[in-house]
Amino acid sequence: MSHEVLAPIDRRRAHRALSDQPIPRSDLTTLLHAAHLAPSCANNQPWRFIVVNAEPELSQLKEHLSAGNYWAEPSPCIIAITSKSDLDCQIPDGREYHAFGCGMAAMNLMLQATELGLIAHPIAGYRQAPIKPLLRVPEAYAVLALVVLGFPSDDHTLLSEKHRQDERSARQRDPLESVVGWNRFPLAESNPPS
Ligand SMILES: Cc1cc2nc3c(=O)[nH]c(=O)nc-3n(C[C@H](O)[C@H](O)[C@H](O)COP(=O)(O)O)c2cc1C
Repeated sequence: MSHEVLAPIDRRRAHRALSDQPIPRSDLTTLLHAAHLAPSCANNQPWRFIVVNAEPELSQLKEHLSAGNYWAEPSPCIIAITSKSDLDCQIPDGREYHAFGCGMAAMNLMLQATELGLIAHPIAGYRQAPIKPLLRVPEAYAVLALVVLGFPSDDHTLLSEKHRQDERSARQRDPLESVVGWNRFPLAESNPPS
């Protein structure tokens, strides 16, 4: 059995020690191409990306990150993933697919970044309200995530002690059995203990 796909999936991590080295335009184009190859409901392609790699926008964007995302400061490029509900399937029983599609596009982008030797760290920790006018995002759209990009840095001195430990720690995941049900919903939630 081939593990060619699993290997880069396993290598990708949400690391935080970033260098400020610029990312070549050709690498950024490759990331966007990978993201745009993601599947989407009825091929609606609900993603709208904003590549932020120039001043003053980049510094201004960083001003609106949550304090815990201080580590993004050296990043030479942040990609905003934006969308809105009516860009994708809206099924009358309540299912909406735009964020699902954007998530798959984000994953393609992050895996391609890993292959290019880049860190691509998704974040939700930012103030959306000031970011929208800064990046000229129309009111109806949501900024679903920012992907903080950068080449890895050996210098961990900028990181908090917790984040320094996270850089070296093994990946944390709940046991597979707790999130997978075979032929029925995973047991713990479908059969709460009486
Ligand atoms: C939607 C989303 C939002 C996230 N927001 C943040 C964030 O604001 N700050 C942060 O440091 N990491 C953030 N992360 C990264 C996760 O903490 C990280 O992916 C998770 O701990 C698993 O680690 P791994 O990606 O190295 O496997 C976010 C990830 C996702 C998918």
